[in-house]
Amino acid sequence: MLVGVGLGPGDPELLTLKAVEILKSSDIVFAPGRLAAQLVEPYARPHLLEFPMTKDKSVLQSHWEENADMVAQHARDGLAAFGLIGDPNFFSTFTHLRRLIRQRHPDIIIETVPGISSITAFAARADIEIESSFQVSDGSPVTDRIILKARRPGQIVNELVDEGFEEFTLAQKLYTEDEDIIKGKENMPEKADYFSIIHARKTRER
Ligand SMILES: C[S@@+](CC[C@H](N)C(=O)[O-])C[C@H]1O[C@@H](n2cnc3c(N)ncnc32)[C@H](O)[C@@H]1O
Repeated sequence: MLVGVGLGPGDPELLTLKAVEILKSSDIVFAPGRLAAQLVEPYARPHLLEFPMTKDKSVLQSHWEENADMVAQHARDGLAAFGLIGDPNFFSTFTHLRRLIRQRHPDIIIETVPGISSITAFAARADIEIESSFQVSDGSPVTDRIILKARRPGQIVNELVDEGFEEFTLAQKLYTEDEDIIKGKENMPEKADYFSIIHARKTRER
């Protein structure tokens, strides 16, 4: 099994208890860079995954494939962790690695443990409060939208369809005993709990 572990924004005290537990119990822990490796070190010996400093796509692709095959081999034999700065599902090396492993080694089970992302950590550190809708961009096209307080999923999704969104996920009471994750426009209920998030994606623009 392979677990992508969020290590938080850089402060060694901002790892979650779950992240520490996985790092300690893994048979091998990979890290994509020095900062991630430093955060792993108190709990496990990190194996640095190096990527060549080149823009040559075919050279990069073959390094990615080699790394994916090597990580998959360890994940097949035991518990392999991949520690990443922030959260593994937000703008991270893990996304590309996971995609490749899914293509080349579909038998490997892959999970992620969330970490404190720089997207939320910056607000605490810079004393900035976000109280209305905002945009996160790395310069690529805006294809995803996250709606908080999604109490009326059916109505919200219909409005998003009109804007060109195609894929929808409703997540309620995450990480609690009542957690519920629903995918697909056709499955959206009319009402949802206050602790609900809708994710919408435009697949054609990706
Ligand atoms: C490849 S993305 C990784 C994002 C990470 N997965 C997350 O959830 O925060 C790298 C970008 O995240 C932001 N970042 C990550 N850690 C940061 C930190 N400690 N301080 C400021 N920005 C940070 C910077 O914009 C950086 O260019």
